[in-house]
Amino acid sequence: MHEKSLSHDTFCSTSQIDKSGPFPYNLCGMSNVTLHVLHSRDEIAERVRWLGKQISQDYQGKFPLLVGILKGSFVFLADLIRHLDLPVQVDFVRLASYGDSMESCGKVKLTKDLELPVEGRDVLVVEDIVDTGRTLKELLEELARRGPGSLRSCCLLDKRHRREVPLDIDYVGFVVHEGFLVGYGLDWAESYRHLPDICVVEPGTQSSEKAGPDKGAGP
Ligand code: PRP
Repeated sequence: MHEKSLSHDTFCSTSQIDKSGPFPYNLCGMSNVTLHVLHSRDEIAERVRWLGKQISQDYQGKFPLLVGILKGSFVFLADLIRHLDLPVQVDFVRLASYGDSMESCGKVKLTKDLELPVEGRDVLVVEDIVDTGRTLKELLEELARRGPGSLRSCCLLDKRHRREVPLDIDYVGFVVHEGFLVGYGLDWAESYRHLPDICVVEPGTQSSEKAGPDKGAGP
């Protein structure tokens, strides 16, 4: 939830990424940012297709409301809905965490609410990554208060070893243990969301004096 500026020379388009070998990404050769591919676009596509199949089976005959948590989930959600063999609706929320450290130890507050009503709906919350679990837990509790017909959650990446609150996630793409992750919607100081693969920032990488990995996908 922490936004930091990123120096211009670390902000590269996909076409500037050195893909001479699959590992590691070397962004532009203009900065010290080195990324290693953790889950390739092909692996992601296969897993998202699998998730879509599971969800389609479980929600047969229903008309679920998918709730994406901004911003990170937008890429995953966009791909996932195209693998659903169901009529669906989509809405988004944005949450902010407040605490006295860079870690997500504070309270979570809705800063952008849903536009669609939840009461009686089959609601599926879609998240890119679950780390401490605080964001998803707070949202699920808030949505539960609104009387949905059912309430489930789906995340692409589950950093369950970092969990600080109990949470059962219904659909999980990958369980991950690695360090700071970027790409496929995940950011580092608001950059790198556009990368088609999910990458690990090499330890010791410094993209600028001002920027640094925030807690969202922390180690
Ligand atoms: C990330 C991620 C989750 C949240 C998970 O969002 O998208 O929403 O952190 O962390 P938690 O399990 O510790 O609560 P981030 O705060 O980085 O914002 P973003 O989605 O806008 O990138």
